[in-house]
Amino acid sequence: MAEFDLVIRGGTVVTASDITRCDVGIRDGRVAALAETLTDGAKVIDAAGLYVLPGGIDSHVHLDQPTGDGTRMADDFETGTRAAAAGGNTTVLPFALQIKGNSLRQDVLDYHRKAAGKCFVDHSFHMIISDPTPAVLGQELPALVKDGYTSFKVFMTYDGLKLNDRELLEVFAVARREGALVMVHAENYDAIKFFTERLEQAGRTTPNHHATSRPAPVEREATHRAISFAELVDVPIMVVHVSSRDAMEQIRWARQRGLKIYGETCPQYLVLTAKDLDGLNMEGAKYVCSPPPRDEASQVACWEGLLDGTFQVYSSDHAPYFFEHGELGKTNSRARTAFRWVPNGLPGVETRLPILFSEGVSKGRMEITRFVELTATNHAKLYGLYPRKGTIAVGSDADIVLWDPARSETITQAGLHHGCDYTPYEGFRCTGWPVLTLVRGRVVAENGTVTGDPGYGTYLKRGLSPYARPRGIHPGGFAPEPTSPFGSG
Ligand code: URP
Ligand code: ZN
Ligand code: ZN
Repeated sequence: MAEFDLVIRGGTVVTASDITRCDVGIRDGRVAALAETLTDGAKVIDAAGLYVLPGGIDSHVHLDQPTGDGTRMADDFETGTRAAAAGGNTTVLPFALQIKGNSLRQDVLDYHRKAAGKCFVDHSFHMIISDPTPAVLGQELPALVKDGYTSFKVFMTYDGLKLNDRELLEVFAVARREGALVMVHAENYDAIKFFTERLEQAGRTTPNHHATSRPAPVEREATHRAISFAELVDVPIMVVHVSSRDAMEQIRWARQRGLKIYGETCPQYLVLTAKDLDGLNMEGAKYVCSPPPRDEASQVACWEGLLDGTFQVYSSDHAPYFFEHGELGKTNSRARTAFRWVPNGLPGVETRLPILFSEGVSKGRMEITRFVELTATNHAKLYGLYPRKGTIAVGSDADIVLWDPARSETITQAGLHHGCDYTPYEGFRCTGWPVLTLVRGRVVAENGTVTGDPGYGTYLKRGLSPYARPRGIHPGGFAPEPTSPFGSG
């Protein structure tokens, strides 16, 4: 009997800290050995000329999430995780949305049912808290955190989701007590309403005006408010999908003051701008997401945030809506009357990694170790999966993606595996491409073909994140933290 089930031979193994030419021995789905030469594998994969990286972890994904407006998400757990695997990901963290009035526990169980038997990659859930009743805050959330749902998202905008300031503080206080990490969608609800109504009165209703309705100060104000609340409660927070210099600088400022504020940005803020919608009329709906892609200066700021440590994670915010598909999609009859009805969100789980590899690593902006941190390691650390996930080390799950740094590919809808009927990155040229994805030692995607089985991907019960611990500045609070390994910015 061979010593290893699989040996990956001749590649360059990259983690968040090291670049090493070595072989990887895999046994029982885990990394069993890293050595200059390993020979005794039942199966051998030749990785000469390839990078051997931790599989991507996409910690911001929406799959099969109800919309409540007659539209439908284009990806369920099968198509969404199929696309994730093809794009070099081995774990995704989708959201379990609490429907107002519902029990959080029931809604989480519903997502387990939706995911059961369908996932190609491993997964876990963040909860979305839309209705922080005393029962939710007092019983359900604490019990769910103890059960491994150790992060949740709150919204400062969107009808039906928005929490008021008092509710935000209450949720933050529960997170602090239970050691959970809160993700914040930071945009000012009333300012968006104010602009939306004025734009509609002026007849400016096409999708390109979605961006006009939520300029950067809308995001900056909410980001600052969320940071202030986090400081008041002494709880770390993650500001998600940051799109602008203003918001990025709020996070940088907070981190420089020693606050545990984390940040995330996404591909759409690195490579798209509001100009992509110019002159498109309804075609512009393909790019409608919140916050919106802005201008070139905002792209520069988001790159800065990724490179200087202001942002710790780079996620897709995969929120796939059909472009067509009648009443189900972005161009439904109501959406044609005004941008406010266009479902917000872009597909991106499959294209997230190639875009950053190409624009970051291949163009020389980013070290490959930083790529690994931003796309895998920090997601695992922040969301309670490390070191089982997010690295290549003896004992870790053998979640690995082989990258061909020289391979040129063009992103096209025809080449993708998601359930959506378009990609906002059509025609985008990439240098560097994921050529093989292994989840727990098993090949799930190879050269653009998904070879895994739906149902192989398993649910991950997560631990508390050490990075969600308060600083301990309040009387009766936690002990002071050592310096964050993410740096102070
Ligand atoms: O437009 C977006 N971002 N849609 C997805 C939902 C969210 O806010 O993350
Ligand atoms: Zn959001
Ligand atoms: Zn999202």
